[in-house]
Formats: sequence, C-alpha cells, structure tokens
Amino acid sequence: MRRIMSNRPALPPEIARRRTFAIISHPDAGKTTLTEKFLLFGGAIQMAGQVRAKGEARRTRSDFMQMEKDRGISVSASAMSFDYKNFRYNLVDTPGHSDFSEDTYRTLTAVDAAIMVIDGAKGVESQTQKLFEVCRLRDLPILTFCNKMDRESREVFEIIDEIQENLAIDVAPASWPIGVGRDFLGAYDMLNDRLELMDRADRNKVAESIKLDGLDDPKLADHIPTDLLAKLREEIEMARELLPAFDRQSFLEGHMTPIWFGSAINSFGVKELMDGIGNYGPEPQFANAAERQIAPDEKKVQGFVFKVQANMDPKHRDRVAFVRLISGHFERGMKLTHVRSKKPMAISNPVLFLAADRELAEEAWGGDIIGIPNHGQLRIGDALTEGEMLHITGIPSFAPELLQSVRATDPMKGKHLEKALMQFAEEGAAKVFKPMIGSGFIVGVVGALQFEVLASRIELEYGIPVRFEPSQFTSARWVLGKEEATEKLVNANKQHMATDNDGDPVFLTRLQWDIDRVVRDYPDVTLSATKELM
Ligand code: G4P
Repeated sequence: MRRIMSNRPALPPEIARRRTFAIISHPDAGKTTLTEKFLLFGGAIQMAGQVRAKGEARRTRSDFMQMEKDRGISVSASAMSFDYKNFRYNLVDTPGHSDFSEDTYRTLTAVDAAIMVIDGAKGVESQTQKLFEVCRLRDLPILTFCNKMDRESREVFEIIDEIQENLAIDVAPASWPIGVGRDFLGAYDMLNDRLELMDRADRNKVAESIKLDGLDDPKLADHIPTDLLAKLREEIEMARELLPAFDRQSFLEGHMTPIWFGSAINSFGVKELMDGIGNYGPEPQFANAAERQIAPDEKKVQGFVFKVQANMDPKHRDRVAFVRLISGHFERGMKLTHVRSKKPMAISNPVLFLAADRELAEEAWGGDIIGIPNHGQLRIGDALTEGEMLHITGIPSFAPELLQSVRATDPMKGKHLEKALMQFAEEGAAKVFKPMIGSGFIVGVVGALQFEVLASRIELEYGIPVRFEPSQFTSARWVLGKEEATEKLVNANKQHMATDNDGDPVFLTRLQWDIDRVVRDYPDVTLSATKELM
C-alpha cells in the first residue's frame, strides 16, 4: 500500500477510524504480552493470560508442532480486532518463526503500520532487524515500544543510538523513562506533558496519569525522589537538544519512529502506545493494482487475499482466506466478483476475528480484515471487487531457498499426496514443483524447519506419512518470456524443467552456472526469482 495523497476527499468516518497494524519483534521481547494487553484494554478479553499459551507454545520445536496441530490457536491469532477510544484496531499477527519470511512479507502487505517491540536490555536483535528491513521495503510507518523497563536495561541514549544506527531511522522519544529496573517509576509523556506512574501492585491496572505544566511543575517532586527527578530533567534537556522532535509526516513516510518506554507485563506504556497509533498512525492506505491505484475512499468494496489457511477444522476440508478490505462498506451476503475466475461469489459467512472467537461479520469497512471460508477458490493475491477487473500487485511469491523431493512412504498414496501438496502450495506454505521427467514432486521452502512442519501436517491432516529426501536441485526460477522463446528453452532442457501449482514453467537449477548458461543462451527469456501472484 502507498501513502495517502493529499487533496483526496476525506475518508468516511468508519474507515478513517481504522488502524490496521502488525507487531514485529525478536522472540521473547514481549509481543505476546503486549498483544494481550491490547486485547485486555480493547475489551476483547476479560483477563490476562488468555493469549499466553501461544507465547509458551512457541518456545520449543516440538511445542511449535503442537501449535501447528492446534490450528485453532494460530488461526484466531492471525487477525484480531478491538475498539479502544475512538478507534478500531486490526492487529494482524506476523508468523512467529524466523523461517517464515515469505509469509511475513505477505502479512505486512495487509497492514498500514507496524509496532516494533524491543527488549530494553537487548536492544535491536537479529529478527527485529530482518523484519524491520521488510517493513522498510514498503515504507511502513513504525512505532517503537521499548519493553521490560522494570528490569535492568541499557541507558536510554544508548538504546536510541542503536536504533538510529542499525536501522538508519530517526528516533523521536514519545516518552522518557524515570528510573530503571527496581527503581523504575514510570515515564514522562513528552508528547502530552504528563507524568505516568506505574502500579507495581496490580499488573493489569493502567498507570496513574498526572497532567503537568512542564518539567518545573512542583507536582513532579511529590512523586519522584530528588535524585531521579534531577536526572530526568537533565536527560530530557539533552534529549531535546540531541534528538529530533516527533514529526508526524516524517513518521508516516517511514523516516522517523516515535519510541515509548514501558513494561508490557505491568501494563505500563501500553495505552500511550495505543493512543499513539490512533492519533498519529496512518488511516487505511491505497493499494496498487496493475490497472490503477485503489483508494480507500472509493465507494465500492474492494479487497485482496493476503493469506490462506487450510484445514482449520480437520473434519471439513475448508479453508479460510484472509482478505484485507481496501475500500467500501462490506455487508454480509454481498456478491463480489472474484477477479481471477471472473465469477461472482456470494460472501454469506464471512468472519471477523475477535480475539478468542471467530464471529460472523455482519459488516466491515475498508481497512478491516475478514476471513472468508471457501473450498479452495480463493488464493493468495486474488482480488475481490464489485465487478471491476483489478489485479493487485506487490504480493510476490519468492523462489524457495531449499528444495527436497518428497514421496509417500506408502506408494499407494501417491495420488492423495499430490492433492495434499497442491493444497499447501495454494495456502502458500510451500512451493510444489512437478518435474517434467520422472514422477514425484519437489518441494521448496525458505527455512529448513518448514519441511518438518509440512511432513507433520501432511500426516496429521491427510493421514499420509511422507519422507523428504535431498534433491539434486538447489534453487528454482520462474521462466518468463514469449511462448515461442520459453518453449525453446523447455524443449532443450527437460531435465531441468518443472511446473508449479498454477502450471507455470519453472527452471530448476543445481548451480549458479545453470542460470548463467540460460541467460547467455536464451536472451529472449527471463529467469525470475519472484512471481507476482494475481
Ligand atoms: P514474545 O511473544 O515476544 O516471544 O514474548 P512474550 O510476550 O512471550 O514474553 C517473553 C517473556 O518476557 C515472558 O516471560 C514475559 O512474561 C516476559 N515479559 C514480557 N513483558 C515484560 C515486561 O514488561 N517486564 C518483564 N520483566 N518481563 C516481561 P517468561 O518467563 O518467558 O514467561 P512467563 O513465565 O512470564 O509466562
């Protein structure tokens, strides 16, 4: 999605109040805890602890498999909606494991902003850095939450410097912590001139908030010991001199990130962060189609599928397509055009994701995420419109980095395996290639753990035990070009050729040399490491 252009008509109020975002972080920084507090303050759950299982389940590899088995958990957490003050928040979960970078990329095509959670003692960690780079590709505005200030953490200036240097982004303090670790009292809200005091006794209670009249306000001395107060005044003076002030435009363009200091487990700083996304965060944004840009103020309902999850209920072979609505007022029962098949589709049982439960969506607006149960018609990248033939761009499929061949341990189950593999390919969980010569399939993934997850899902969901084995191929490229030119390549290189689940030709490579050879010998074809899904 692209930044909103000025001189557009104002958005309908229901769309203008939507904030659709994701949280990016390194494991253990506190994403689950923060999510839980959002849901708690958003009234979507009654008590802390209901989302916890997820954070714990992710800890070990075998538990991760268990989570994959327990589709319910990972699904209800895929998209969550809640209201807070005047805003409707749609939180889209980024897949937890570092292996799933392609999935993550696509998830981030469905949001307008991201919250980056870092651990105050650890700073910018590897996974945060990677996810940040993905956000940067899309110029997403990023809000930073520096968590665990109730523990010993680094000096504030050091943390800010690290973010500025490692991520090459301006950092503007939105709050400034008072004390640290055992002495952590709360924070000074630099944007609203307030003192926020943490309640250590009750972890779910929001902080006491006191309106101030600047840093010389005598009320400060009633709550902060003299030495900490002197330090606070000195640091803020330095911060104002050395660090940029918050600039909304710069933030919306992705050049600046405001940072809040808090403690998710103590509910501290969470509401200020929510207010931050609400008040400063972007409204629903444009999306790009091959034909034109789609604006959020357009009257007609338009949306695209960014994620498909199959077999949520093993008893029914249903799938849920997660659709980001770009514009319009959607109502249940509406007939939309499924652009890829050019067929009308009555959306009679869409779901909204309210924390723990799926709920039937009676209506939704541009900016929202709805789930559409279907039997496989809806694929990643598909557009749904009120008739216009629009093809969404910018949702790529990436060439896998690891390839293995797969076969059923029981040869009688070969046909069933093909069906299962195609389903996973459409879900986007793996690339599946059918070589032109020989039988069997080659499966491509981005991270090695995905082979294990796939093997366990194929057995669990389809009852087919499978074995993955090394393949002679190491990489795959889509073949693009005029029919005549690609045919020439295909016919002369059958031992390298395969088709993907859409039937498109793919060149399987062993060495970079294979690619260089094609580039040299077939100037009229292009070998592409990505394929646009549309
Ligand atoms: P993740 O989803 O990013 O992986 O992190 P998660 O929220 O699961 O938090 C990781 C650990 O950090 C948890 O501890 C959690 O309780 C703790 N934590 C989160 N926020 C804060 C905070 O503000 N201050 C402190 N001190 N700790 C925090 P755990 O021991 O792994 O789990 P648990 O036994 O507490 O559930």
